Amino acid sequence: MLTAARIAAGTLSLLLAHLAVAAECDASAGQKAFQNKCAACHALDQDKVGPHLSGIVGRPMGAVQGYAYSAGLAGAGQTWNLERLDQWLTAPARMIPDTNMAFGGLRNADERKAVLCYLQSQG
Ligand code: HEC
Repeated sequence: MLTAARIAAGTLSLLLAHLAVAAECDASAGQKAFQNKCAACHALDQDKVGPHLSGIVGRPMGAVQGYAYSAGLAGAGQTWNLERLDQWLTAPARMIPDTNMAFGGLRNADERKAVLCYLQSQG
């Protein structure tokens, strides 16, 4: 009986932890921030000043065919994961000094998280 209650309590706290994580990631706030701060140069499905960003989480860095990247990004040889994207959006030129992305960075961690949440939700 006691064991069953403990298991139930454990399951409940796992469930709550899961909900808290889901609620932390705000794709609609991220979409707004993307429109305001990224969309002048980026679209999801076509290259503009910057390369298209659909599927960016898990995509190799600097790898869109036909897009003229900086040497630094073209030669990065790594894959974008959430951690690298967070670092990039904090200060692009700190990560790739010769980057062509003329963007100072998003200093607000919640805003970076929301933008990444939105981009990830777009596949
Ligand atoms: C002033 C134009 C500009 C703005 C604003 C801008 N970018 Fe970029 N972005 C670029 C350019 C140009 C590149 C290519 C950089 C290079 O080749 O070094 C790039 C590259 C990227 C890449 C790497 C893509 C790849 O294929 O490896 C990501 C991710 C990215 N930008 C995300 C964003 C996000 C998210 C925002 C908004 C917070 C943003 N950018 C704002 C111009 C911009």
